[in-house]
Amino acid sequence: MSVGIRGHLVHFPSDPSSGGSEAVQNFSDGVLIIESGRIAACGSYAALAERYQACDERYHYPDRFVLPGFVDTHTHFAQTDIIASPSPSLLHWLEHYTFPEEARFSDPNHGQVVAQFFIQELLRQGITTASVFATVHPESCEAIFQAANACAMRIIAGKVLMDQNAPDFLCDTAEGGIEAARALVERWHGRGRLRYSVTPRFIPTSSETQLRLAAALYHEIPDLHLQSHVAENEDEIAWVKRLYPKSRSYLQVYQDFGLLGPRATYAHCIWFDDDDRRLMAATQTAAAFCPTSNLFLGSGLFDLASARSHGLTVGLATDVGGGTSFSMLRTMQEAYKVAQLKGLTMTAEECFYLATLGGAKALGLDSMIGSFKPGKEADVIVINPEATALCSRRMQSTKTLSEQLFVTMMLGDERMIEQTHILGRPMQTIEPEGAAHAN
Ligand code: GUN
Ligand code: ZN
Repeated sequence: MSVGIRGHLVHFPSDPSSGGSEAVQNFSDGVLIIESGRIAACGSYAALAERYQACDERYHYPDRFVLPGFVDTHTHFAQTDIIASPSPSLLHWLEHYTFPEEARFSDPNHGQVVAQFFIQELLRQGITTASVFATVHPESCEAIFQAANACAMRIIAGKVLMDQNAPDFLCDTAEGGIEAARALVERWHGRGRLRYSVTPRFIPTSSETQLRLAAALYHEIPDLHLQSHVAENEDEIAWVKRLYPKSRSYLQVYQDFGLLGPRATYAHCIWFDDDDRRLMAATQTAAAFCPTSNLFLGSGLFDLASARSHGLTVGLATDVGGGTSFSMLRTMQEAYKVAQLKGLTMTAEECFYLATLGGAKALGLDSMIGSFKPGKEADVIVINPEATALCSRRMQSTKTLSEQLFVTMMLGDERMIEQTHILGRPMQTIEPEGAAHAN
């Protein structure tokens, strides 16, 4: 099956912040040729017209940006229904909203309903890949994998491991939690486009035994991912210091248990020193930058410039429901503002890179997704930069692609996401040009 997508193609084959004219590729009338769900060619319509016209299905999006799907490097599907819950800070928010809400996922039906909504919401937002926390209940992880599998989305997920310092109704046991994780790995890891992520919630909620067993599982099975939280909030850090007084830093505790490494992604990474940043880079551990969550919970400002100068891999994340939006465009806006406060002025291209190939790199999936390089999986989104009256008006006074991308990012939200293609197939009902009305 071949699919042709025609529109204003823009993608970011390398990090624009490290320069290079090849960091942004742009065809104002461009075409993607997709064979069996993978990019077969990416170029101008003039060069690919014949191949486009020969495609089984053709989708023409005049005056629309066509980009790689967004990658959300850290989110919690089970927190969908507590998004926007006011709280002075992280630990209060976990106790008063998060833990009671996550308890509801002991009911598999509830998990299925929320998982289906969550996956549909990702598609509405143009998010085609996400790294997702379920809850402690294996059924919740089952639910998110099932919902993602039904539309062939590339989702990484894991059952939360937590066996201490949390309400009893949310605790597993060190051995029981790992056994449940192992059963999910066997059932889902590598099935279709799904991957399993070992998911210790954070240091305070796992015993030493559980942390050791989690590391053993992560190292035992090829291509397994790992996700957790680190250095988000000052009270949380003080708590970890009390638990591990001899450790040099919060991050060091993870390292001492063997929990850093390739395909491991840690959310927040706000209260790091340079030794922590060097440790992240040396172990090839990635950071998930969660600006809306960090602002909302008053956690702090991630230092992107410093992360970059130490060679950290960074992706962007919504961190729903500590984060206040499912929208990657809104998340990019807030990332831009946080960077401003830390003395770094980002370009739109840098932000779009973080939300696409940068995120794919952070999750260790950049050989498969994140750009339009031939051979990659064809997750593609269609953005209408004139979706609102204001955007349409503002767009009239832009002169360059950079300006247009900046306005799209700064004023954008899900209203701009007109279509999401997974492996070439459109997820919202739409008629292909096809043979019926070829042009
Ligand atoms: N730290 C431990 N658990 C969580 C969580 O669910 N959300 C956030 N933002 N931080 C955490
Ligand atoms: Zn989180």
